[in-house]
Amino acid sequence: MKLRSFTAFAAIFCLFGNVFAAEQYATTGALTIHADRGETTINRNIYGHFAEHLGRCIYEGIWVGEDSPIPNTRGIRNDVVAALRRIKIPVLRWPGGCFADEYHWKDGIGPRDRRPSMVNTHWGGVTENNHFGTHEFMDLCEQLGCEPYICGNLGSGSVLEMQQWVEYLTMPGVSPMADLRRANGRERPWKLKYFGVGNENWGCGGNMTPEYYADQYRRYATYVRNFGDNRIFKIACGSQSDDYRWTDVLMRQCRGYGNRYMMDGLSYHYYCGSGAKTRSATEFEEIDWFHLLRRALRTDELLAKHGAIMDKYDPEKKIALIVDEWGAWHAVEPGANRRFLYQQNTLRDALVAAITLNVFNRHCDRVKMANIAQTVNVLQAMVLTDKEKMIVTPTYHVFEMYKVHQDAVRLPTELEADDYLFEGNKMPGVDVSASRDGEGKIHVTLCNLNPRRPARLECLLRGAAAERISGRVLTAAEMTAHNTFEQPENVVPAEFDAFSKSDAGMSVVLPAKSVVVLRIE
Ligand code: AHR
Repeated sequence: MKLRSFTAFAAIFCLFGNVFAAEQYATTGALTIHADRGETTINRNIYGHFAEHLGRCIYEGIWVGEDSPIPNTRGIRNDVVAALRRIKIPVLRWPGGCFADEYHWKDGIGPRDRRPSMVNTHWGGVTENNHFGTHEFMDLCEQLGCEPYICGNLGSGSVLEMQQWVEYLTMPGVSPMADLRRANGRERPWKLKYFGVGNENWGCGGNMTPEYYADQYRRYATYVRNFGDNRIFKIACGSQSDDYRWTDVLMRQCRGYGNRYMMDGLSYHYYCGSGAKTRSATEFEEIDWFHLLRRALRTDELLAKHGAIMDKYDPEKKIALIVDEWGAWHAVEPGANRRFLYQQNTLRDALVAAITLNVFNRHCDRVKMANIAQTVNVLQAMVLTDKEKMIVTPTYHVFEMYKVHQDAVRLPTELEADDYLFEGNKMPGVDVSASRDGEGKIHVTLCNLNPRRPARLECLLRGAAAERISGRVLTAAEMTAHNTFEQPENVVPAEFDAFSKSDAGMSVVLPAKSVVVLRIE
């Protein structure tokens, strides 16, 4: 879309009326986008997801069974698959989480009516019938067109069990596990790249010290074999939040014979929590908005510090940091089972997702995968279901808007903008990330964190010309705005045209509490 300055400013005035007329109240800033300096590719897997046997994520959310009146393909909901394909889901982690270290994969293969059940002790003590197992998960990934990422059981499973799972999945020739797979109806091996050796083994995965886990990791990982031409990318259980010691010990000790690293990736978990005064997902005030966004932004500092420890041992950045659980964690919706972690999702969560994804993009030299928790009906979900009904959340729309960054080359940015001030505290008012895709188009994702003030940015584009600019915006009148089964389109992206081209680049006005994606050609 080509706008001359006059048209752009008329549009801006219409959009913000008196608020923008009182320009002294707006956040202002200067942004430089270095289109001449792109180096690192943003791995598409940064836009990955995580689905655990927890609450209504797998059962109801994904798996309804072949006899369900809900439209499905081999038991998997068609509406959920279609929604996730629209955001180009690149990778899906399964079966947990804490569930992974209690899961025994052989219970989830063979005829469903003969599969033994178990108690999901971690998530509500409910009976798990194992109807969704290895074959169903791999089918789900094929329907989604995404890579599977399986997390093995180190906490309560044996080395043999882990070894055999990988053999069952990937062995092409004749072997006990490949033959068992064939007997269960799958002739060809699957391709499996990503395999995690345990989950949160400092906590629910066995309450281990980092030294003990590092020893266990080396032992288990030895037997996670490559069969045929399949190559496993082994992921060790990493740290959470600001536990830097765990990262240090793992980087020091996860080496095997000949001092070679035995891992390709080290995981990391960070949940930014909820508000300051209330944990409600939908009933909160600006103080809760402010504190949650500030904790989400802290991801930047945490990744920098964990990354610096990794740099000490691995300056060439061969080992990936895999942020395989992240997101906001609110109180469950009124009436929901406390252990099912079913929460609503507002515009505030969209901002959490948007600024966190910007941070991951900025750390894409080390962060090669991230998996938001979780895909359906649990924590900061993309999709919520109620029997046959399905809605998508504001967070989903962020993933849809940001999919343009997948596999694009990250462009460095410099931003000087006013802070967002609240009750004597402050944080950056604006957050940004930019990339150039394979066709040469530049995409800039911008967040205005201030829920009361628009932000005006003067953008300098170095090394490229802005011939055509177009954009989309996600915002709403209230910071608590969210989608419901009755009103599924309260928060949806809209066309955005509050920008104008300038000689050096463009000026943009971001509405208060908004996420904007610009396409520059
Ligand atoms: O995502 C919910 C839980 O949070 C996961 O099972 C666990 O790994 C983490 O503590």
